[in-house]
Amino acid sequence: MPNFVKINNQITKFNKRLSIDGDKSLSIRWALLSSQSIKRSKASNLLLSEDVLSTLKCLKKLGIKIKISKNFCEITGLGLNGFKYRDNLVLNAGNSGTLGRLILGLLVHSKKKVQLRGDESLSKRDFLRVIKPLKKFGAKFNSNYGKLPIQIQGTNFTKPIRYFENKGSAQCKSAVMFAALNTSGETIIKAKKSRDHSELLFKHLKLPIKIIKKNKYDVIKVIGKCNIPAINYKIPSDISSAAFFIVLTALSKNSSLKIKDVNINPSRMGVFYILKLMGIKISKFNIKNYKGEKIADLLIKSPNKIKPINCPIRFNSSAIDEFLLIFLVAAKAKGVSYFKNLSELNQKESPRLKWGSKILNKIGIKNIVNKNSIKIFGNPDLKINKKIIIKNFLKDHRVFMTSVIAALSFGGEWKIFDKNSINTSFPSFLRKVHYLGAKIE
Ligand code: S3P
Repeated sequence: MPNFVKINNQITKFNKRLSIDGDKSLSIRWALLSSQSIKRSKASNLLLSEDVLSTLKCLKKLGIKIKISKNFCEITGLGLNGFKYRDNLVLNAGNSGTLGRLILGLLVHSKKKVQLRGDESLSKRDFLRVIKPLKKFGAKFNSNYGKLPIQIQGTNFTKPIRYFENKGSAQCKSAVMFAALNTSGETIIKAKKSRDHSELLFKHLKLPIKIIKKNKYDVIKVIGKCNIPAINYKIPSDISSAAFFIVLTALSKNSSLKIKDVNINPSRMGVFYILKLMGIKISKFNIKNYKGEKIADLLIKSPNKIKPINCPIRFNSSAIDEFLLIFLVAAKAKGVSYFKNLSELNQKESPRLKWGSKILNKIGIKNIVNKNSIKIFGNPDLKINKKIIIKNFLKDHRVFMTSVIAALSFGGEWKIFDKNSINTSFPSFLRKVHYLGAKIE
């Protein structure tokens, strides 16, 4: 099977219902936290994408028992500080920043040296951001300027720390929370706002955590060395995956889409609020609480007109994985849109601010990138009549899927490489695209 798709047709009107794969952040957190319990935990609708499978493989190497059938998974953990360490243990986080960073938090106690590796994309990413706070717990690290491969050597005598997370990185915050779980005493984290799945899971499990919410940051206090109960969980659908189809509907004519059981955690809802400000008709209903998270069905209808936006930076963190898609919506807005303070976008699987600009250039939309901001000169009549080739050498799944949405929305003759990258986060992506009636070779 070739590792590319060819698209030569705009999508026609659709009115459908869709279900979306399980949430990646929650799937990885469920697996890692379950490994810290001595009970048997069960998850249904677990996302079985490569990032989550890499998580399960790493845990197996650490002695954890795991059973999977379809998207149902059982993990019997070994309790806090219970991992089994073989000599010369190598863990491979593949493409996953979340796995790579969070698992280091659980390894601050490792009894032997453990090497953490990743693929080409992950090996370019910054791990100093987690090494720095985890060193304060007492773990020792060996790396080349904080890039993978990294060697960690834990200690039995971890000390609780005080840490200021100032990037708005949920991965850094969660790595420290995981290390705090394994450490006697109180760790205090002051964290710029970012997704709060770890906090909600800790709270749901009644672990000793206190959260004080301030305007721009949260103070999180975790007391370690507690017993972790079994975590039985039905993973809700991933808003970041749903976003591809929300945007496809927004950019299509006379279409509507209903998406069931999406995780609408407010710390992930930036895309929803930004699109609403841009005039997209999107509403949530059947809102339910589920073990601390919020879930709802979403209804999206194609708008008559898309408005440009001067995007408030307060949405940056909660829309961080959706900006490539949001830029496509801005490409079709009537006027100039402006997005700023997006330095974290270039810290992702590939430098996504650069990629956003590259895709806009390819589709003929004027844009100006200035350090960490981008100005996009929208064109409501945008229609493409040329050949476009997308090769993304770091195989960024979101670059591939965003390009497919652009091709289906704006027309043109596209050849988009690295189809297999969808397995990172959204293995059923192309099946859903077919289901909506798109023609893809
Ligand atoms: C994630 C946090 C975000 C996000 C990533 C998943 C998580 O990264 O981009 O896809 O599950 O904690 P940062 O925490 O680095 O911003």
